[in-house]
Amino acid sequence: MAVTAKPGLDAAKLRTDFAIFEQLIHGKPLSYLDSASSTQKPRQVLDTIRWFYETSYANVHRGVYELSQRATTAYEGAREKVRVFVNAPSAREIIFTRQATEGLNLVAYAWGLVNLGPGDIVVATELEHHSNFVPWQYIANRVGADFRLIPIDDQGELRLDVLDEVAAGGEVKVVAAGLVSNSLGTINPIEDLVSWAHELGAITVIDAAQAAPHRPVDVQALDCDFLAFSSHKLCGPTGVGALWGRAELLEAMEPFNLGGHMIRSVKPEKTTWGDLPYKFEAGTQPIAEAVGFGAAIDYISAVGLEAIEEYEHELAAYALERLADVPRLRLFGPPAERRAGIVSFDLEGVHPHDVAQVLDWEGIAIRAGHHCCQPLMARLGVAATNRASFYLYTVRDEIDRLVDGLHKVRKVLG
Ligand SMILES: Cc1ncc(COP(=O)(O)O)c(C=O)c1O
Repeated sequence: MAVTAKPGLDAAKLRTDFAIFEQLIHGKPLSYLDSASSTQKPRQVLDTIRWFYETSYANVHRGVYELSQRATTAYEGAREKVRVFVNAPSAREIIFTRQATEGLNLVAYAWGLVNLGPGDIVVATELEHHSNFVPWQYIANRVGADFRLIPIDDQGELRLDVLDEVAAGGEVKVVAAGLVSNSLGTINPIEDLVSWAHELGAITVIDAAQAAPHRPVDVQALDCDFLAFSSHKLCGPTGVGALWGRAELLEAMEPFNLGGHMIRSVKPEKTTWGDLPYKFEAGTQPIAEAVGFGAAIDYISAVGLEAIEEYEHELAAYALERLADVPRLRLFGPPAERRAGIVSFDLEGVHPHDVAQVLDWEGIAIRAGHHCCQPLMARLGVAATNRASFYLYTVRDEIDRLVDGLHKVRKVLG
């Protein structure tokens, strides 16, 4: 019997789709290790956006003329791509937003303000990005609900053993959690959190900003209630993202933004709302961006989400192994088998910004800061970390250069 090789991922080949890597930075090849922050864009996505503007651009939905119909078809086609991408039951449940942050705010405001009150508990996690933390903290404060956190252990993994304590003395109404931590790369046990939340009668709001670009995400398998992510982290343009929500919840919710597009009828005495998803899409939408988002989904789907996940996992394991050789380097987060392609570290005695600055001279781009996770930084006992993050175009040589660069930082800065 013929043995078929498992389709792998050829990062060096994929890299040629990204014109940005053709240049030198400070005279050195670019080593871009900041994909958790935002990803680079392949020609296929850029070409689609250009093609759309040059052949099919107009405002959507309102026009009877040919161009508007073409634009509407492309825009709604992108929505269908998002639906398939997260395996949502219906495209009515896919709302285009500006990014994950707006999707999470939409749920916090439109669902939270109406459904939360004194005595209720809103649960987030110590790993949360500010985008799925601050909106819930703010809305909980506004309505008099309790805002509580699921703590992490010393490896940066959620402590499910204390869930009963977290829920004690009130009614948990919302559990807000990320699938993958942007700071530590921790892959969270979302299915367990969802079943816990549902046993308590709470809804679950899942931040998939660091998951959807890197691993298959299936809202029906997760059984969650809302899930948000951004296009720019999956090879698509900035300015657009998606929120998926269960139709029955979205239908019962008040709108978030008000204005054009989202209404059924407007009279001086009363305005009624349009159907899903338009009730939540007020104003002219990021039309070309949504089309580019669809092209990015096509691109990463053709590469294969399983292949991306496996490849990044190998990169993370390699990076953890190599970084362990750098003197006085503290690594944060779980072991390779339980993390995505993100590594955070601290070079003892050197400020993370100085580390990133010296690496920049070598053409290596990594992030230094709190990564929009100040409560997590406080838990780790640091103000900031350095973070290297990988994607489908990352090659091992970039990790080797990072490690060489860190040795150089040690020499230059002690
Ligand atoms: C886990 C996580 N959630 C939310 C966000 C916010 O994404 P955006 O700025 O695209 O809304 C980020 C961005 O870094 C993130 O990493």
